[in-house]
Amino acid sequence: VNVTKMKWLAALLPATFVCLFDFLRHNLWVGIPNGWGNLMAALVVLVTSFLYFRGIFKLLKTISGSLQTEKEEKAILQERDRIARELHDSVSQALFFMNIKAKEIESALKQQRQPFGEIMELKEAIQITDTDVRQHIFNLQMVSQVNVDLVTAVRSNLKKFQEQSGIRTEFTAKGDSQQKLSDREKNQLIRMLQEALWNIRKHANAECVQVSLIEEGKQYLLTIKDNGTGFQEANLKERNSSFGLKFLHERAREIGAKFTIESLAGEGTTVSIQLGIN
Ligand SMILES: Nc1ncnc2c1ncn2[C@@H]1O[C@H](COP(=O)(O)OP(=O)(O)OP(=O)(O)O)[C@@H](O)[C@H]1O
Ligand SMILES: [Mg+2]
Repeated sequence: VNVTKMKWLAALLPATFVCLFDFLRHNLWVGIPNGWGNLMAALVVLVTSFLYFRGIFKLLKTISGSLQTEKEEKAILQERDRIARELHDSVSQALFFMNIKAKEIESALKQQRQPFGEIMELKEAIQITDTDVRQHIFNLQMVSQVNVDLVTAVRSNLKKFQEQSGIRTEFTAKGDSQQKLSDREKNQLIRMLQEALWNIRKHANAECVQVSLIEEGKQYLLTIKDNGTGFQEANLKERNSSFGLKFLHERAREIGAKFTIESLAGEGTTVSIQLGIN
């Protein structure tokens, strides 16, 4: 839509028609009485303006209609992404863990050993997943997200992580996340922490994880650092079945944060999320 052109047309069109009409009236239709001539000139302006603006309004209606459709489609896509991520974060991670436990039970049985411990852990994992999935369903139904205390949430996630994986965790917190971060930001940060921890458990073979949540000037910084095997960026092939890092990027973008992952083979991995605050 060329707005400048529309503007000029709106200004010039009625004037042009009146000029044309006046020209014809004075040169060809000289018999028309003056009063009638003026009335007809007014009518010419009215009709041309009416036709012109009817066209413009039709155009505006079409444009706003297609904008609305576009907006709705975008919202649907975002919602799908959100559900995909929630599924990844709860179900596929839990299934991964249960699969490990099932394998442990299998090997215990092969060694003629009673796998009570593993079965207990499996039962507990099923229980946790059940609660977690219910929480996700609840979250998906809610428009606004549940209020969380970030530091407490990080602590309890780390505690659970340490218990389940045997990997030692250290946590440093500095600043006032409760006041300065929104619920949406806090929820996203927790999800990001969970994925980073899952990756450590799955891939890093680490002994220790250091997590820090630090307010520094106008920024909030969440760092998750492990001392595991690390990886080389070049080895991260475009795998369609890997979603974790992709989702981490997306979550960061959604809250306007900067996400970085640094890793060197043999030297561990550091994930940082840098969030601007007011
Ligand atoms: N902390 C880490 N230590 C070592 N390697 C890592 C670490 N985090 C990620 N990686 C490497 O990066 C790859 C991509 O991670 P990503 O989370 O995207 O996928 P995934 O964990 O393999 O699968 P998904 O997250 O979809 O279940 C991993 O396969 C792994 O090789
Ligand atoms: Mg992953």
